[in-house]
Amino acid sequence: MAQRRMMEELSWDAFSSLPLEARAPYFLQSSGRPYHCVIAQQFDRECLDHLCDLATRIRRIAKSKVGMDFLSSLMRNKRAMLYFTQPSTRTFLSFFSACQILGFSPAEVRDTSISSEMKGETKEDTIRTFSSFFDLIIMRTPMQGFAEQMAWMISRTERPVPIINAGSGKDQHPTQALLDIYTLERSFEHTGGIDGKTVLFCGDLLRGRTVRSLSGLLTQYNNVKQIFAAPDCLQIGQDILDMLKAKGIEYEITNDFKGHVKDADAVYMTRIQDEWDTKPGESATMSYKHEDYWFTGDDLKNLSPKGVIMHPLPRRQEISTDCDDDPRAVYWRQERNGMWIRAALIATIFCRDQEITQYYMLNNR
Ligand code: NCD
Repeated sequence: MAQRRMMEELSWDAFSSLPLEARAPYFLQSSGRPYHCVIAQQFDRECLDHLCDLATRIRRIAKSKVGMDFLSSLMRNKRAMLYFTQPSTRTFLSFFSACQILGFSPAEVRDTSISSEMKGETKEDTIRTFSSFFDLIIMRTPMQGFAEQMAWMISRTERPVPIINAGSGKDQHPTQALLDIYTLERSFEHTGGIDGKTVLFCGDLLRGRTVRSLSGLLTQYNNVKQIFAAPDCLQIGQDILDMLKAKGIEYEITNDFKGHVKDADAVYMTRIQDEWDTKPGESATMSYKHEDYWFTGDDLKNLSPKGVIMHPLPRRQEISTDCDDDPRAVYWRQERNGMWIRAALIATIFCRDQEITQYYMLNNR
């Protein structure tokens, strides 16, 4: 395995000090398919198009019982561990469902108080233990870089298994970004695709990992403008702006969310990530007008008729429920898209993608 050989040559310190773009190829198979999925930077446009097409094929195949039987026969001999040590509803459930669709037997550890971590076992040893019993590890962790470090570590052992990052600290959430891309692709299917569109991000852009990963994936599309609307104290990190600058991507940072809704093809709302507050209640008392960063029924009037409102969910007040019935509100569809694109990702990691495409060509066209 290419990535194993390369990782064996580098210590974690040497590896992690490489720029993201330089680390990305280490997570791929020699065919260019993902092996691990840990950072958004490992996906190029070709891979994104492949995953979106495959997700659609899986979605259509799954409409019939015989199709479901085919899909669930693919990985029937494999087991997946979902190791989620941070709260999760939809990411967990969509991975669980994606595994079931492909025939995996999924198992879970969500509460470390009943695992050997309580006896002082390190998280590294816990992950290594999972690799003794499971063929795939899907993990959510509050620790930035941890999923990536575990991918590096497991690749150097005699039993490497793929690791999928289901959210790591404030930093990355690559599979959420994949489902966001798939949702954008589907939403703009009849209006020229993602190329040339403007995406307006709003909310806690400083601590929201979904925005950070999606911002990276959007750079794979042509002429996509990114607007970051947030109060100064929650504005997007300089590392993201540097990345956009280096790639020559057009972007804007602003405090004026409402004034930019009319410019957007997609409005991407986010929740205040107050679990990262350094003092309890800190976010609630931040001195800016919180309602200025909420999308309400009034803002629907300013949104383009072909525009969409997205949200990784869970939401609080940042999108009022009176927007839910508007056809441009796609956040519930977005949630379900997560299951299809995650199934596509896992099938691709395990090299079952061509078989799915062949089945689709024969039975579903
Ligand atoms: C996000 C997350 O956990 O980063 N949710 C998700 O995965 N769908 C965003 C959030 O929790 O606000």
